[in-house]
Amino acid sequence: MSGFPVRRMRRLRATERLRALVRETTLDVSRLVMPLFVRPGKKLRRPIPSMTGNFQFSVDELAKEVAGLDALGVPAVLLFGIPETKDDTGSASCDDAGIIQQALRAIRKTAPDMLVITDVCLCEYTDHGHCGVVVECRGRKVVDNDRTLELLAKQAVSHARAGADMVAPSDMMDGRVAAIRRALDAAGFADTPIMSYAAKYASAFYGPFREAAESAPRFGDRRDYQMDPANADEALREIALDIDEGADIVMVKPALAYLDVIRRAKDRFAVPLAAYSVSGEFAAVKAAAERGWLDERKVVMEVLTGIRRAGADLIITYWAADVARWLKET
Ligand code: PBG
Repeated sequence: MSGFPVRRMRRLRATERLRALVRETTLDVSRLVMPLFVRPGKKLRRPIPSMTGNFQFSVDELAKEVAGLDALGVPAVLLFGIPETKDDTGSASCDDAGIIQQALRAIRKTAPDMLVITDVCLCEYTDHGHCGVVVECRGRKVVDNDRTLELLAKQAVSHARAGADMVAPSDMMDGRVAAIRRALDAAGFADTPIMSYAAKYASAFYGPFREAAESAPRFGDRRDYQMDPANADEALREIALDIDEGADIVMVKPALAYLDVIRRAKDRFAVPLAAYSVSGEFAAVKAAAERGWLDERKVVMEVLTGIRRAGADLIITYWAADVARWLKET
């Protein structure tokens, strides 16, 4: 080797204490959000086949589950609702007695300190499975952006009224952050933050979720409102718009195939950044682990640390509870 003194990179890797002392990225349970699915019924914990260890809970079971997560130290949950009935405008989403609204009230009793975030979208509530109101336009079925905004705003206000601590619009309609912000403010919820799915890609990694949320589109796909996986500059434009419209936290989704987008967003914008490690990312690792092909715990810690290192401040992950447990053991 030329040059003296020789730079010895290994010096700081000798012991775990030393490694910990100079570690650049930490994975702490305080940064994790657990997604949960709630459906009508009583005493139900219906397993989701493509997402081992995840369930569709009835409201009573969900409230218990959330209390358990609270005890484990998981700070936040993100709720997705499967309504009793679906129609073409997803009207059940705005019902003050709807499934999410019931869940919010039940959780308040079992886990009053839990930070409860609600997904705001129409796809779980529409009979066609699209994220907005569908209309015919020149012989083609398309989502009507502006009509959808009113419904999203109504849904967000209804969630806030039922006790949501934060709302998370995932529909990708243009202008929805502004519409929701205006509606929340007008209804007396000026202090309710918005976490916006700002750069949400039209990803094949959502497959298991659509089974879990019973929200697969009946026709077409979501590529005319979700982003093209080939684009990253566009993600920065989406994020900039959402910040302008009043988003408090912005999100990149999925995570693993979009680490470059997370990094660029973190470098560009000084707002809290969330990454959603989605259902397909979970299912892929889980399936390999179930076959004994991967060490689940090690892979998960590596993946989530990688997402944090890329620049995510917080991570939405179906492993939140497992990570909380694992971190307690070490
Ligand atoms: C609803 C929504 C989706 C996800 C979160 N919110 C599905 C979709 O857009 O098709 C996916 C989450 C996951 O895969 O874990 N719009």
